[in-house]
Amino acid sequence: MPETVFVLNGPNLNLLGTREPEIYGSATLDDIAGMLEDRARELGLEIDLRQSNHEGHLVDWLHEAQAVGAKAVLLNAGAFTHTSVALHDAILAIRTPVIEVHLSNPHTREAFRHKSFVGMAAKATIAGFGPLSYLLALEGARRL
Ligand code: DQA
Repeated sequence: MPETVFVLNGPNLNLLGTREPEIYGSATLDDIAGMLEDRARELGLEIDLRQSNHEGHLVDWLHEAQAVGAKAVLLNAGAFTHTSVALHDAILAIRTPVIEVHLSNPHTREAFRHKSFVGMAAKATIAGFGPLSYLLALEGARRL
């Protein structure tokens, strides 16, 4: 059975491709899923990619990642990154390693993006490489 890597995406990431393309680029979430699946196949891994605009779904999916024995979680929590104590606590509550992912580099943007409740609990953070951030995070996850 190939090991599974969960790729969890938070609010507004369903609009990738048309959402502020000057910041987030033109790739859609489906494009990113395809890219990750191609690489995962080469690595003998499976990808379970999900997106929700609801914080509680992300919390539930973090719990599920541990329950099903996922190898790792790549988490782009979108704006919840900067607000969610619930996601912070959920990451600390599970043993599954969580890698924080961002397309943009929040530290070069508005001050309200400089604090990450996700990053304070995650094993690692990859940001600023556009869609490649997800691929780099997958490479990291594979070596865990
Ligand atoms: C983001 C950065 C966040 O600050 C923002 O709220 C997003 C996307 C990124 O991938 O660059 O929704 O997580």
